Amino acid sequence: MRVLISGAGIAGPTLAWFLAKAGARITIVEKSHSLLPHGQNVDIEGGALTVIKKMGLMDRLRQFNTTEKGTQFISPTGQPFASFPISKGPGRSVSLTSDFEILRADLAAILHEATKDLPNVKYLFGTMIKKVVSNDGDSVKVELSNGEVQDFDLLVAADGQWSKVRKQCFPPDSVNVIHKGNYVAYWTVPRLPIDNDWWNIYLALPSRFMSIRPDPHSTIRALFSLMPCNSSQEKAWLEASKSDRQTQQDLLRREFVGSGWQAERLLDAMDQAPDFYFHEIAQIKMSKWFTSRVVCLGDAAYAPTPLTGMGTSLAITGAYILAGELSKLDDGEHLSKALEAYESIFRPFVEKTQQIPFFFPAIAHPETAWKRWLIQALVWAFSKLMAIPWLAMKIGDHGYSENFSLPKYPSFDEGDAK
Ligand SMILES: Cc1cc2nc3c(=O)[nH]c(=O)nc-3n(C[C@H](O)[C@H](O)[C@H](O)COP(=O)(O)OP(=O)(O)OC[C@H]3O[C@@H](n4cnc5c(N)ncnc54)[C@H](O)[C@@H]3O)c2cc1C
Ligand SMILES: *[C@@H]1O[C@H](CO)[C@@H](O)[C@H](O)[C@H]1NC(C)=O
Ligand SMILES: *[C@@H]1O[C@H](CO)[C@@H](O)[C@H](O)[C@H]1NC(C)=O
Ligand SMILES: *[C@@H]1O[C@H](CO)[C@@H](O)[C@H](O)[C@H]1NC(C)=O
Repeated sequence: MRVLISGAGIAGPTLAWFLAKAGARITIVEKSHSLLPHGQNVDIEGGALTVIKKMGLMDRLRQFNTTEKGTQFISPTGQPFASFPISKGPGRSVSLTSDFEILRADLAAILHEATKDLPNVKYLFGTMIKKVVSNDGDSVKVELSNGEVQDFDLLVAADGQWSKVRKQCFPPDSVNVIHKGNYVAYWTVPRLPIDNDWWNIYLALPSRFMSIRPDPHSTIRALFSLMPCNSSQEKAWLEASKSDRQTQQDLLRREFVGSGWQAERLLDAMDQAPDFYFHEIAQIKMSKWFTSRVVCLGDAAYAPTPLTGMGTSLAITGAYILAGELSKLDDGEHLSKALEAYESIFRPFVEKTQQIPFFFPAIAHPETAWKRWLIQALVWAFSKLMAIPWLAMKIGDHGYSENFSLPKYPSFDEGDAK
Protein backbone atom coordinates (compact mmCIF):
# COMPACT_ATOMS: atom_id res chain seq x y z
CA MET A 1 0.00 0.00 0.00
CA ARG A 2 1.32 3.45 -0.96
CA VAL A 3 0.23 6.17 1.45
CA LEU A 4 0.76 9.91 1.18
CA ILE A 5 0.45 11.89 4.44
CA SER A 6 0.15 15.67 4.45
CA GLY A 7 1.59 17.14 7.67
CA ALA A 8 4.47 16.13 9.95
CA GLY A 9 2.90 17.33 13.21
CA ILE A 10 1.75 14.73 15.74
CA ALA A 11 -0.81 12.68 13.82
CA GLY A 12 1.21 12.26 10.60
CA PRO A 13 4.41 10.71 12.04
CA THR A 14 2.42 8.50 14.47
CA LEU A 15 0.41 7.10 11.58
CA ALA A 16 3.59 6.61 9.54
CA TRP A 17 5.20 4.60 12.35
CA PHE A 18 2.34 2.11 12.58
CA LEU A 19 1.75 1.89 8.82
CA ALA A 20 5.45 1.21 8.29
CA LYS A 21 5.20 -1.63 10.78
CA ALA A 22 2.28 -3.01 8.81
CA GLY A 23 4.38 -2.95 5.63
CA ALA A 24 3.05 0.11 3.79
CA ARG A 25 5.20 2.59 1.86
CA ILE A 26 4.76 6.10 3.23
CA THR A 27 5.59 9.57 1.98
CA ILE A 28 5.07 12.54 4.32
CA VAL A 29 4.94 16.05 2.89
CA GLU A 30 5.40 18.93 5.33
CA LYS A 31 4.87 22.57 4.47
CA SER A 32 7.60 23.99 6.68
CA HIS A 33 11.27 23.52 5.81
CA SER A 34 12.12 21.94 9.17
CA LEU A 35 10.25 20.86 12.28
CA LEU A 36 8.43 23.78 13.92
CA PRO A 37 9.59 24.91 17.38
CA HIS A 38 6.10 26.24 18.17
CA GLY A 39 3.50 25.19 20.70
CA GLN A 40 3.44 24.58 24.41
CA ASN A 41 2.32 21.91 26.84
CA VAL A 42 0.19 19.12 25.49
CA ASP A 43 -1.21 16.24 27.52
CA ILE A 44 -0.99 12.60 26.60
CA GLU A 45 -3.87 10.76 28.23
CA GLY A 46 -5.18 7.22 28.65
CA GLY A 47 -5.27 5.39 25.33
CA ALA A 48 -2.76 7.73 23.70
CA LEU A 49 -0.24 6.85 26.40
CA THR A 50 -0.74 3.18 25.61
CA VAL A 51 -0.02 3.96 21.95
CA ILE A 52 3.22 5.74 22.91
CA LYS A 53 4.18 2.68 24.96
CA LYS A 54 3.57 0.43 21.96
CA MET A 55 5.97 2.66 20.02
CA GLY A 56 8.59 2.20 22.75
CA LEU A 57 8.86 5.95 23.31
CA MET A 58 8.00 6.24 27.01
CA ASP A 59 11.59 6.91 28.06
CA ARG A 60 11.98 9.67 25.50
CA LEU A 61 8.72 11.16 26.69
CA ARG A 62 9.84 11.13 30.31
CA GLN A 63 13.15 12.77 29.39
CA PHE A 64 11.28 15.72 27.95
CA ASN A 65 8.77 16.16 30.79
CA THR A 66 8.08 19.84 31.40
CA THR A 67 9.28 19.65 35.04
CA GLU A 68 6.13 21.46 36.15
CA LYS A 69 5.21 21.11 39.83
CA GLY A 70 1.55 21.97 39.46
CA THR A 71 -0.66 24.99 38.97
CA GLN A 72 -0.90 28.14 41.05
CA PHE A 73 -3.11 31.18 40.78
CA ILE A 74 -1.68 34.67 41.18
CA SER A 75 -3.67 37.40 42.93
CA PRO A 76 -4.12 40.96 41.57
CA THR A 77 -1.23 42.00 43.84
CA GLY A 78 1.07 39.40 42.27
CA GLN A 79 1.09 36.81 45.07
CA PRO A 80 0.21 33.12 44.65
CA PHE A 81 -3.03 32.47 46.57
CA ALA A 82 -4.12 28.98 45.55
CA SER A 83 -2.04 26.02 44.45
CA PHE A 84 -2.71 22.59 43.02
CA PRO A 85 0.46 20.51 43.21
CA ILE A 86 0.84 17.41 41.05
CA SER A 87 0.19 14.40 43.21
CA LYS A 88 1.19 10.94 42.10
CA GLY A 89 -1.54 8.37 41.79
CA PRO A 90 -5.26 9.03 42.15
CA GLY A 91 -6.34 12.63 42.48
CA ARG A 92 -3.66 13.91 40.14
CA SER A 93 -5.93 15.34 37.46
CA VAL A 94 -6.98 18.27 39.64
CA SER A 95 -3.48 19.70 39.45
CA LEU A 96 -4.33 20.66 35.81
CA THR A 97 -0.82 19.52 34.90
CA SER A 98 -0.96 15.92 33.78
CA ASP A 99 1.73 13.34 34.51
CA PHE A 100 2.59 13.09 30.86
CA GLU A 101 2.86 16.60 29.71
CA ILE A 102 5.37 17.54 27.08
CA LEU A 103 5.96 20.49 24.77
CA ARG A 104 4.29 20.03 21.43
CA ALA A 105 7.56 20.63 19.57
CA ASP A 106 9.46 18.10 21.71
CA LEU A 107 6.84 15.47 21.02
CA ALA A 108 6.87 16.23 17.28
CA ALA A 109 10.68 15.88 17.30
CA ILE A 110 10.52 12.53 19.15
CA LEU A 111 7.99 11.18 16.64
CA HIS A 112 10.04 12.43 13.69
CA GLU A 113 13.17 10.86 15.15
CA ALA A 114 11.36 7.53 15.56
CA THR A 115 10.29 7.45 11.90
CA LYS A 116 12.84 9.36 9.83
CA ASP A 117 15.20 6.43 9.28
CA LEU A 118 12.60 3.73 8.66
CA PRO A 119 13.30 2.24 5.23
CA ASN A 120 9.72 2.63 4.01
CA VAL A 121 9.09 6.19 5.28
CA LYS A 122 10.15 9.22 3.24
CA TYR A 123 9.88 12.81 4.50
CA LEU A 124 9.65 15.74 2.08
CA PHE A 125 10.02 19.00 3.99
CA GLY A 126 9.16 22.30 2.33
CA THR A 127 6.69 20.41 0.15
CA MET A 128 2.90 20.59 -0.13
CA ILE A 129 0.15 19.01 -2.12
CA LYS A 130 -0.58 21.49 -4.87
CA LYS A 131 -3.57 19.71 -6.26
CA VAL A 132 -5.55 16.52 -5.78
CA VAL A 133 -5.94 15.61 -9.44
CA SER A 134 -8.32 12.69 -8.96
CA ASN A 135 -9.72 10.56 -6.16
CA ASP A 136 -11.69 7.46 -7.06
CA GLY A 137 -12.15 3.79 -6.28
CA ASP A 138 -8.78 2.83 -7.79
CA SER A 139 -6.32 5.47 -6.66
CA VAL A 140 -5.73 9.05 -5.62
CA LYS A 141 -3.55 11.13 -7.91
CA VAL A 142 -1.82 14.26 -6.58
CA GLU A 143 0.41 16.98 -7.91
CA LEU A 144 3.06 18.07 -5.39
CA SER A 145 4.52 21.57 -5.08
CA ASN A 146 7.82 20.19 -6.44
CA GLY A 147 6.02 19.43 -9.70
CA GLU A 148 5.81 15.64 -9.34
CA VAL A 149 2.54 13.91 -10.15
CA GLN A 150 2.05 10.62 -8.31
CA ASP A 151 -0.53 7.93 -7.63
CA PHE A 152 -1.24 6.63 -4.14
CA ASP A 153 -3.66 4.17 -2.58
CA LEU A 154 -4.50 6.58 0.22
CA LEU A 155 -4.08 10.28 0.99
CA VAL A 156 -4.21 11.29 4.66
CA ALA A 157 -4.89 14.89 5.64
CA ALA A 158 -2.91 15.36 8.87
CA ASP A 159 -2.15 19.00 8.12
CA GLY A 160 -3.84 20.49 11.16
CA GLN A 161 -6.86 22.58 11.98
CA TRP A 162 -6.83 24.62 8.77
CA SER A 163 -6.04 21.62 6.51
CA LYS A 164 -5.57 22.47 2.85
CA VAL A 165 -6.25 18.89 1.78
CA ARG A 166 -9.60 18.95 3.59
CA LYS A 167 -10.43 22.19 1.87
CA GLN A 168 -9.71 20.72 -1.56
CA CYS A 169 -11.48 17.41 -1.12
CA PHE A 170 -14.51 18.05 1.08
CA PRO A 171 -17.42 20.39 0.34
CA PRO A 172 -17.57 23.45 2.66
CA ASP A 173 -20.94 22.43 4.10
CA SER A 174 -19.50 19.16 5.43
CA VAL A 175 -17.03 21.02 7.65
CA ASN A 176 -18.23 22.95 10.67
CA VAL A 177 -15.87 25.47 12.32
CA ILE A 178 -17.06 26.35 15.82
CA HIS A 179 -15.60 29.50 17.32
CA LYS A 180 -15.13 29.24 21.07
CA GLY A 181 -14.72 32.97 21.63
CA ASN A 182 -11.09 33.41 22.67
CA TYR A 183 -7.74 34.09 21.00
CA VAL A 184 -4.45 32.74 22.28
CA ALA A 185 -0.82 33.69 21.74
CA TYR A 186 2.17 31.63 22.87
CA TRP A 187 5.87 32.47 22.99
CA THR A 188 9.11 31.66 24.77
CA VAL A 189 10.64 34.04 27.33
CA PRO A 190 14.17 34.01 28.82
CA ARG A 191 14.10 32.58 32.33
CA LEU A 192 15.01 34.79 35.30
CA PRO A 193 15.98 33.78 38.86
CA ILE A 194 12.52 34.93 40.09
CA ASP A 195 10.81 32.32 37.91
CA ASN A 196 9.58 29.07 39.44
CA ASP A 197 8.51 25.63 38.25
CA TRP A 198 4.78 26.18 38.59
CA TRP A 199 2.18 26.97 35.99
CA ASN A 200 1.39 30.50 37.16
CA ILE A 201 -2.00 31.86 36.14
CA TYR A 202 -3.10 35.48 36.42
CA LEU A 203 -6.53 36.82 35.50
CA ALA A 204 -6.38 40.42 34.23
CA LEU A 205 -9.33 42.73 33.64
CA PRO A 206 -11.32 42.80 31.49
CA SER A 207 -11.40 39.27 30.02
CA ARG A 208 -7.67 38.70 29.81
CA PHE A 209 -5.70 35.64 30.86
CA MET A 210 -1.92 35.41 31.28
CA SER A 211 0.21 32.50 32.31
CA ILE A 212 3.82 31.36 32.43
CA ARG A 213 5.09 27.82 32.84
CA PRO A 214 8.50 26.13 33.00
CA ASP A 215 9.94 24.02 30.19
CA PRO A 216 12.84 21.54 30.04
CA HIS A 217 14.99 23.96 28.00
CA SER A 218 15.82 26.53 30.72
CA THR A 219 13.36 29.06 29.33
CA ILE A 220 9.75 29.75 30.28
CA ARG A 221 6.63 29.81 28.16
CA ALA A 222 4.10 32.64 28.12
CA LEU A 223 0.47 32.16 27.13
CA PHE A 224 -1.85 35.14 26.72
CA SER A 225 -5.54 34.77 25.98
CA LEU A 226 -8.31 37.29 25.47
CA MET A 227 -12.03 36.94 25.03
CA PRO A 228 -13.39 39.98 23.15
CA CYS A 229 -16.09 41.93 25.04
CA ASN A 230 -17.86 43.46 22.04
CA SER A 231 -18.07 43.19 18.29
CA SER A 232 -15.47 45.80 17.41
CA GLN A 233 -12.92 44.09 19.61
CA GLU A 234 -13.93 40.71 18.17
CA LYS A 235 -13.36 42.03 14.66
CA ALA A 236 -9.88 43.30 15.51
CA TRP A 237 -8.84 39.95 17.01
CA LEU A 238 -10.30 37.87 14.22
CA GLU A 239 -8.53 40.00 11.63
CA ALA A 240 -5.26 39.75 13.53
CA SER A 241 -5.55 35.94 13.62
CA LYS A 242 -5.43 35.99 9.81
CA SER A 243 -2.76 38.66 9.59
CA ASP A 244 1.02 38.79 10.05
CA ARG A 245 3.08 38.50 13.21
CA GLN A 246 3.69 42.24 13.54
CA THR A 247 -0.05 43.01 13.48
CA GLN A 248 -0.66 40.31 16.07
CA GLN A 249 2.09 41.56 18.37
CA ASP A 250 0.92 45.17 18.07
CA LEU A 251 -2.59 44.16 19.06
CA LEU A 252 -1.38 42.10 22.03
CA ARG A 253 0.80 44.93 23.25
CA ARG A 254 -2.00 47.47 22.95
CA GLU A 255 -4.49 45.28 24.77
CA PHE A 256 -2.28 43.86 27.53
CA VAL A 257 0.06 46.68 28.46
CA GLY A 258 -0.77 47.91 31.96
CA SER A 259 -2.93 44.89 32.77
CA GLY A 260 -0.81 43.96 35.79
CA TRP A 261 1.56 41.27 37.11
CA GLN A 262 4.39 40.58 34.61
CA ALA A 263 2.58 41.85 31.50
CA GLU A 264 5.35 44.24 30.39
CA ARG A 265 8.21 41.81 30.91
CA LEU A 266 6.45 39.11 28.91
CA LEU A 267 5.33 41.46 26.13
CA ASP A 268 8.88 42.77 25.81
CA ALA A 269 10.12 39.25 25.07
CA MET A 270 7.73 38.78 22.15
CA ASP A 271 9.90 40.32 19.41
CA GLN A 272 12.83 37.99 20.06
CA ALA A 273 10.83 34.79 20.49
CA PRO A 274 11.64 32.05 17.94
CA ASP A 275 8.19 30.52 18.34
CA PHE A 276 5.58 33.28 18.50
CA TYR A 277 2.23 31.70 17.61
CA PHE A 278 -1.21 33.30 17.58
CA HIS A 279 -4.50 31.56 16.95
CA GLU A 280 -8.21 31.71 17.21
CA ILE A 281 -9.68 28.96 19.34
CA ALA A 282 -12.04 26.96 17.16
CA GLN A 283 -13.22 23.38 16.88
CA ILE A 284 -13.50 21.38 13.68
CA LYS A 285 -16.41 19.00 13.17
CA MET A 286 -16.89 17.08 9.94
CA SER A 287 -20.02 15.21 8.93
CA LYS A 288 -17.79 12.48 7.45
CA TRP A 289 -14.05 12.00 7.88
CA PHE A 290 -13.28 10.48 4.49
CA THR A 291 -14.25 10.65 0.87
CA SER A 292 -13.18 7.81 -1.40
CA ARG A 293 -9.38 7.54 -0.80
CA VAL A 294 -8.83 10.76 1.13
CA VAL A 295 -9.16 10.64 4.92
CA CYS A 296 -8.77 13.31 7.62
CA LEU A 297 -6.87 12.67 10.85
CA GLY A 298 -6.10 14.64 14.02
CA ASP A 299 -6.84 18.36 14.14
CA ALA A 300 -7.72 18.31 10.42
CA ALA A 301 -10.71 16.08 11.19
CA TYR A 302 -11.67 16.92 14.75
CA ALA A 303 -9.61 19.68 16.41
CA PRO A 304 -11.07 19.82 19.93
CA THR A 305 -9.18 23.05 20.99
CA PRO A 306 -6.61 23.36 23.77
CA LEU A 307 -9.57 24.02 26.12
CA THR A 308 -10.06 20.26 26.22
CA GLY A 309 -6.35 19.42 26.52
CA MET A 310 -7.11 16.49 24.21
CA GLY A 311 -5.92 17.52 20.72
CA THR A 312 -2.72 15.51 20.93
CA SER A 313 -4.33 12.46 22.51
CA LEU A 314 -6.98 12.37 19.78
CA ALA A 315 -4.31 12.72 17.08
CA ILE A 316 -2.24 9.84 18.49
CA THR A 317 -5.17 7.52 19.19
CA GLY A 318 -6.80 8.29 15.84
CA ALA A 319 -3.55 7.51 14.01
CA TYR A 320 -3.28 4.16 15.80
CA ILE A 321 -6.84 3.16 14.95
CA LEU A 322 -6.57 4.23 11.32
CA ALA A 323 -3.33 2.29 10.91
CA GLY A 324 -4.79 -0.69 12.77
CA GLU A 325 -7.88 -0.89 10.59
CA LEU A 326 -5.78 -0.58 7.43
CA SER A 327 -3.46 -3.35 8.68
CA LYS A 328 -6.45 -5.69 9.09
CA LEU A 329 -7.47 -5.54 5.43
CA ASP A 330 -7.18 -8.81 3.57
CA ASP A 331 -5.60 -8.97 0.14
CA GLY A 332 -7.97 -7.50 -2.41
CA GLU A 333 -10.27 -5.96 0.18
CA HIS A 334 -11.19 -2.34 -0.57
CA LEU A 335 -9.72 0.19 1.79
CA SER A 336 -13.03 1.95 2.30
CA LYS A 337 -13.82 -0.83 4.78
CA ALA A 338 -10.93 0.31 6.99
CA LEU A 339 -11.88 3.98 6.70
CA GLU A 340 -15.48 3.17 7.67
CA ALA A 341 -14.24 1.22 10.71
CA TYR A 342 -11.82 3.99 11.79
CA GLU A 343 -14.68 6.47 11.82
CA SER A 344 -17.28 4.27 13.48
CA ILE A 345 -14.92 3.11 16.25
CA PHE A 346 -13.48 6.51 17.04
CA ARG A 347 -16.26 9.04 16.38
CA PRO A 348 -18.25 8.48 19.62
CA PHE A 349 -15.17 9.20 21.75
CA VAL A 350 -14.25 12.22 19.63
CA GLU A 351 -17.74 13.67 20.01
CA LYS A 352 -17.66 13.21 23.77
CA THR A 353 -14.24 14.83 23.95
CA GLN A 354 -15.39 17.84 21.94
CA GLN A 355 -18.13 18.68 24.44
CA ILE A 356 -16.92 21.73 26.34
CA PRO A 357 -18.94 22.99 29.33
CA PHE A 358 -20.85 26.17 28.42
CA PHE A 359 -18.91 28.28 30.94
CA PHE A 360 -15.59 27.65 29.14
CA PRO A 361 -13.60 29.68 28.21
CA ALA A 362 -15.60 32.51 29.88
CA ILE A 363 -14.77 31.35 33.42
CA ALA A 364 -11.07 32.00 32.78
CA HIS A 365 -11.78 35.47 31.37
CA PRO A 366 -13.81 37.46 33.92
CA GLU A 367 -14.88 40.88 32.65
CA THR A 368 -15.40 42.68 35.92
CA ALA A 369 -13.62 42.95 39.25
CA TRP A 370 -16.47 41.30 41.16
CA LYS A 371 -16.56 38.30 38.80
CA ARG A 372 -12.82 37.94 39.15
CA TRP A 373 -13.16 38.12 42.93
CA LEU A 374 -15.82 35.42 42.87
CA ILE A 375 -13.81 33.09 40.65
CA GLN A 376 -10.70 33.58 42.75
CA ALA A 377 -12.63 32.88 45.93
CA LEU A 378 -13.92 29.62 44.44
CA VAL A 379 -10.47 28.63 43.26
CA TRP A 380 -9.06 29.37 46.71
CA ALA A 381 -11.77 27.31 48.44
CA PHE A 382 -11.23 24.47 46.00
CA SER A 383 -7.48 24.46 46.62
CA LYS A 384 -8.15 24.14 50.36
CA LEU A 385 -10.52 21.23 49.79
CA MET A 386 -8.04 19.51 47.53
CA ALA A 387 -5.41 19.71 50.26
CA ILE A 388 -7.53 17.15 52.15
CA PRO A 389 -6.17 13.82 50.84
CA TRP A 390 -9.31 11.64 50.92
CA LEU A 391 -11.39 14.33 49.23
CA ALA A 392 -8.71 14.92 46.60
CA MET A 393 -8.76 11.22 45.90
CA LYS A 394 -12.53 11.14 45.40
CA ILE A 395 -12.68 14.19 43.17
CA GLY A 396 -9.49 13.32 41.30
CA ASP A 397 -10.61 9.79 40.50
CA HIS A 398 -13.82 11.14 39.13
CA GLY A 399 -12.06 13.55 36.81
CA TYR A 400 -9.93 10.75 35.42
CA SER A 401 -12.69 8.26 34.74
CA GLU A 402 -13.47 9.15 31.14
CA ASN A 403 -11.46 6.83 28.98
CA PHE A 404 -11.28 5.12 25.67
CA SER A 405 -10.48 1.46 25.42
CA LEU A 406 -8.03 0.98 22.63
CA PRO A 407 -8.84 -1.71 20.06
CA LYS A 408 -6.26 -4.47 19.66
CA TYR A 409 -4.61 -5.18 16.30
CA PRO A 410 -2.56 -8.33 15.68
CA SER A 411 0.07 -6.42 13.67
CA PHE A 412 0.84 -4.08 16.58
CA ASP A 413 0.39 -6.19 19.67
CA GLU A 414 3.41 -8.45 19.66
CA GLY A 415 6.54 -7.10 21.31
CA ASP A 416 4.91 -4.26 23.24
CA ALA A 417 7.50 -2.13 24.97
CA LYS A 418 6.93 -1.59 28.67
C1 LIG B 1 2.38 25.65 15.63
C2 LIG B 1 1.39 24.90 16.49
C3 LIG B 1 1.34 25.14 17.85
C4 LIG B 1 0.42 24.47 18.65
N1 LIG B 1 0.43 24.71 19.98
C5 LIG B 1 -0.42 24.04 20.80
C6 LIG B 1 -0.41 24.25 22.21
O1 LIG B 1 0.39 25.03 22.72
N2 LIG B 1 -1.28 23.56 22.98
C7 LIG B 1 -2.18 22.68 22.43
O2 LIG B 1 -2.96 22.08 23.17
N3 LIG B 1 -2.22 22.46 21.09
C8 LIG B 1 -1.36 23.13 20.27
N4 LIG B 1 -1.39 22.91 18.91
C9 LIG B 1 -2.35 21.93 18.39
C10 LIG B 1 -1.85 20.51 18.57
O3 LIG B 1 -0.61 20.35 17.92
C11 LIG B 1 -2.87 19.58 17.97
O4 LIG B 1 -4.11 19.71 18.69
C12 LIG B 1 -2.55 18.11 18.06
O5 LIG B 1 -1.25 17.84 18.37
C13 LIG B 1 -2.97 17.43 16.77
O6 LIG B 1 -1.88 17.33 15.90
P1 LIG B 1 -2.00 17.21 14.34
O7 LIG B 1 -0.82 16.43 13.93
O8 LIG B 1 -3.36 16.77 13.94
O9 LIG B 1 -1.89 18.71 13.82
P2 LIG B 1 -0.70 19.76 13.97
O10 LIG B 1 0.08 19.51 15.18
O11 LIG B 1 -1.33 21.08 13.78
O12 LIG B 1 0.27 19.44 12.72
C14 LIG B 1 -0.05 19.75 11.40
C15 LIG B 1 1.21 19.78 10.57
O13 LIG B 1 0.85 19.99 9.21
C16 LIG B 1 1.68 20.98 8.65
N5 LIG B 1 0.95 21.61 7.55
C17 LIG B 1 0.03 22.61 7.61
N6 LIG B 1 -0.44 22.88 6.39
C18 LIG B 1 0.19 22.05 5.54
C19 LIG B 1 0.11 21.85 4.14
N7 LIG B 1 -0.70 22.56 3.36
N8 LIG B 1 0.90 20.89 3.57
C20 LIG B 1 1.74 20.15 4.34
N9 LIG B 1 1.84 20.30 5.66
C21 LIG B 1 1.08 21.24 6.26
C22 LIG B 1 2.00 21.89 9.80
O14 LIG B 1 3.18 22.64 9.55
C23 LIG B 1 2.16 20.91 10.94
O15 LIG B 1 3.47 20.41 11.02
C24 LIG B 1 -0.51 23.56 18.07
C25 LIG B 1 -0.46 23.33 16.69
C26 LIG B 1 0.48 23.97 15.89
C27 LIG B 1 0.51 23.71 14.40
C1 LIG C 1 -8.20 4.68 31.91
O1 LIG C 1 -6.90 4.52 31.39
C2 LIG C 1 -5.89 4.36 32.36
C3 LIG C 1 -4.52 4.35 31.70
O2 LIG C 1 -4.50 3.59 30.54
C4 LIG C 1 -6.19 3.06 33.14
O3 LIG C 1 -5.19 2.87 34.12
C5 LIG C 1 -7.56 3.17 33.79
O4 LIG C 1 -7.88 1.96 34.43
C6 LIG C 1 -8.65 3.49 32.75
N1 LIG C 1 -9.91 3.78 33.41
C7 LIG C 1 -11.08 3.34 32.96
C8 LIG C 1 -12.28 3.75 33.74
O5 LIG C 1 -11.19 2.64 31.97
C1 LIG D 1 11.94 14.97 33.97
O1 LIG D 1 13.04 15.48 33.24
C2 LIG D 1 14.17 15.76 34.03
C3 LIG D 1 15.20 16.47 33.18
O2 LIG D 1 15.21 16.02 31.86
C4 LIG D 1 14.70 14.45 34.63
O3 LIG D 1 15.84 14.69 35.44
C5 LIG D 1 13.58 13.82 35.47
O4 LIG D 1 14.00 12.57 35.94
C6 LIG D 1 12.32 13.65 34.64
N1 LIG D 1 11.22 13.23 35.48
C7 LIG D 1 10.57 12.09 35.28
C8 LIG D 1 9.41 11.82 36.19
O5 LIG D 1 10.86 11.31 34.40
C1 LIG E 1 -15.14 47.23 23.32
O1 LIG E 1 -14.40 46.68 24.41
C2 LIG E 1 -13.12 47.24 24.57
C3 LIG E 1 -12.38 46.45 25.66
O2 LIG E 1 -13.14 46.35 26.82
C4 LIG E 1 -13.25 48.73 24.90
O3 LIG E 1 -11.96 49.31 25.05
C5 LIG E 1 -13.98 49.41 23.76
O4 LIG E 1 -14.20 50.77 24.08
C6 LIG E 1 -15.33 48.72 23.50
N1 LIG E 1 -15.91 49.28 22.29
C7 LIG E 1 -17.21 49.54 22.17
C8 LIG E 1 -17.65 50.07 20.85
O5 LIG E 1 -18.00 49.35 23.08
